[in-house]
This record gives sequence, C-alpha cells and structure tokens, in this order.
Amino acid sequence: MSEGDVRVFASPEELSAAAAAEIAAALRRAAEAGRATIALSGGGTPRGLHRRLAESHSDLPWERVHVFWGDERYVPRDAPDSNYRMARETLLEHIAIPPDNVHPMPTGASDPDEAARAYEEELRSVFGDTPAFDVILLGMGDDGHTASLFPGSPALEETARWVVPAEAPAEPRRRLTLTPPVLCAAEAIHFLVAGASKRAALACALSPDGPAPTCPASLVRPLAGTLTWWVDEAAGGRSTKA
Ligand code: 6PG
Repeated sequence: MSEGDVRVFASPEELSAAAAAEIAAALRRAAEAGRATIALSGGGTPRGLHRRLAESHSDLPWERVHVFWGDERYVPRDAPDSNYRMARETLLEHIAIPPDNVHPMPTGASDPDEAARAYEEELRSVFGDTPAFDVILLGMGDDGHTASLFPGSPALEETARWVVPAEAPAEPRRRLTLTPPVLCAAEAIHFLVAGASKRAALACALSPDGPAPTCPASLVRPLAGTLTWWVDEAAGGRSTKA
C-alpha cells in the first residue's frame, strides 16, 4: 500500500497543465495498446485539467478512449450540478470522442440503487472481473471525502459492489459512487487538490498514521498501480521549485 507521489505546484493552472500532460501520456500508451479507460471526477478542480486535455492534447486517439465517472449527483444530465454536464462542457464537446465511448452514470431511474446496479453491469461488460481503470481522477473535499465516499458512509466498507448509492451531507444529497475496491484497482490514481480549504484534509490524507475512515481519501491506496497527488501550495504542499 502506497502513500503515493506528491507533486506540488504554485498554482492550480500549473497543477492542471502538468497533470494533463501525464494523464494524456498514460491514455495514449493504453490507447495505442488497444483501449484506454478513464473515470472522471466531479467538482470544480478538474475543470482546468479538462480544458488542458481539450486544448493541448486533442490529438489523443480519443476513438480508443472510454470515459466513465467516479461519481455522480443523482440529477438530470443537463442539471447545473451534474458531473456529466461539467465534463461535457469542459472536455467532451471539444474532443473527437465517439458518443459510444462516453459512459455517464444513469440518473434517470426513480431508484438510485437500480441505477447503481445498472452501471456496475456496464462496468463488468467492459472490464470483466477486475475494474482496472487505466486512469482514475479524484478530487477531495474539505472533509476528506473523495468521489461520493463521505466520512461515516457505509460505502467506505463496501467490498463486493462496484457502484453504490450514497448520501451527501449537502445538496444534491443523492449520489452514485464507485466503491473503494474499484478505486484501489486502478492502474493510476490521480488526486487533484487545490486551495487553502483543503489543508487539513490533505494533511490527514497524507498522514503517516495511514488510512482513516474519517478521511475517506486516505483509504484510496492502489493495490498494484500508482498514486499521484497533484496539489498546490495553498492546499499545503511546499513547492519543490527554488
Ligand atoms: C463531486 C466530486 C467530489 C469532488 C470534491 C472536491 O461530485 O463533487 O466527485 O468528490 O471531487 O468535492 O470538489 P472541488 O474540486 O470542487 O473542490
């Protein structure tokens, strides 16, 4: 189990540019070997990275890249707080990715548990028995949550299901989320963390004391892949630049 590689940048813009370059290279390697799979994060931090991927890496073989989500708010796809909508506006509309390669979490069923099970079936049809995403992008909330794995959530202890409904402490409360086993099975996990409000959570997530359920992001440790923290100085990293 690894605490990962922490890379610190003076600004979110520099963080996004560097992360986009590394993630693009990983997607290109996987795509050239046959197929690349990535799970996107929600929230605001990934916007800059998405724009960089669209502007500086539009030449990726997107026809061999499949895009999924690590979590979703249980709202219509065109709702202002939909993670799918954010990715569509900042990335998907700007790259030549076939619509069949885009796999949003379903949010139309009245029962989120039914939607979670449907998404898991879709994942199993793509991955088989092991959900080894080439890349998983994750953010982290001020409370240490990641995806929609919040402190105290029963989902933190889920070991069998790949996708479960979740309850957020703030609106929109109903969510769908990948579970810890799926996150930990990834080839490459990339956390994007920026801003002073994340200081305490980042310190907890990187604590040598190890994983703590009070900080769900700390539970995300790759079983065999890599873990990279892309953080800015405001979040508590110290830039390696002189
Ligand atoms: C979501 C995200 C969530 C997000 C964190 C950080 O659906 O909101 O998946 O886990 O990554 O809340 O959000 P910011 O990037 O906006 O700080």
